[in-house]
Amino acid sequence: MTLIDGKKIAAEIRAEIAAGAAAFRERTGRAPGLAVVLAGENPASVSYVTAKERACAEAGIRSFPVRLPADVPQETLLAEVARLDVDPEVDGILVQLPLPKGLDEQAVIRAIAPEKDVDGFHPVSLGRLLVGLDTFVPCTPAGIVELLLRSGVDPAGKHAVVVGRSNIVGKPLAALLSRKGRGGNATVTLCHTATPDLGAFTREADILVVAAGRPGTVGAGMVKPGAVVIDVGVNRVPDATKPRGYRLVGDVDHEAVDPVASLVTPVPGGVGPMTITMLLANTLKAARARA
Ligand code: GUN
Repeated sequence: MTLIDGKKIAAEIRAEIAAGAAAFRERTGRAPGLAVVLAGENPASVSYVTAKERACAEAGIRSFPVRLPADVPQETLLAEVARLDVDPEVDGILVQLPLPKGLDEQAVIRAIAPEKDVDGFHPVSLGRLLVGLDTFVPCTPAGIVELLLRSGVDPAGKHAVVVGRSNIVGKPLAALLSRKGRGGNATVTLCHTATPDLGAFTREADILVVAAGRPGTVGAGMVKPGAVVIDVGVNRVPDATKPRGYRLVGDVDHEAVDPVASLVTPVPGGVGPMTITMLLANTLKAARARA
């Protein structure tokens, strides 16, 4: 088994993006801009948002942080998004999910101008993906396809099994892997919490992507020998031996699965760095399209 080094592949792509951002700035007199909206203080969300803003700075993308309290009224949040929609310096708008209880996530996503929807979560973006039009592809699925291709794995003709049907990962990834074109042309099976005998499906996968949000979703005896396994899970497990009091584990039982697989993404250091990289790429794409 070989580990896929997401950090290394992400660093290569980020260097390309930084060059693109510098050229954009040279040409237009301003850096590409990303608004990063965080409501509340969910610890995982705070750490994601911090990582995204740091990555922007390193790539020469200007970030516009917007911090709101957990009890922000829906109208205030919508008004913030409306303000960013018309701000000429802002090319992309990211609203970190999940939103605190009581806020209507889908209504907030719909308020983002599709030309600034660098997360690719707007129904217009997802619809364009489904019908094969150019669009902002959601960052985690885009990052997974890029990881596969840059690791020498072309999904074309392979059986890809995706576990998890979220709007953010599973559903758009199934669309990407099955579409005609680069990184697509796979035969895709989409499994979820209502799939009986999950192992019967995962054992058939040439490429197995696990985005279920639950540790140990895929374990011993559930992977075909030689399969490529992409672990999208980011779960915090209490661990008193760690300085932060927790460690990160994926959705895959790596002790059981890694010896059977050919290529595996680790957690952390696999998919995570690619998600942020694709956000930077989408922001540069938005800036170029708007300039
Ligand atoms: N929450 C988990 N993943 C994501 C993501 O890619 N974008 C946003 N905005 N929120 C998330």
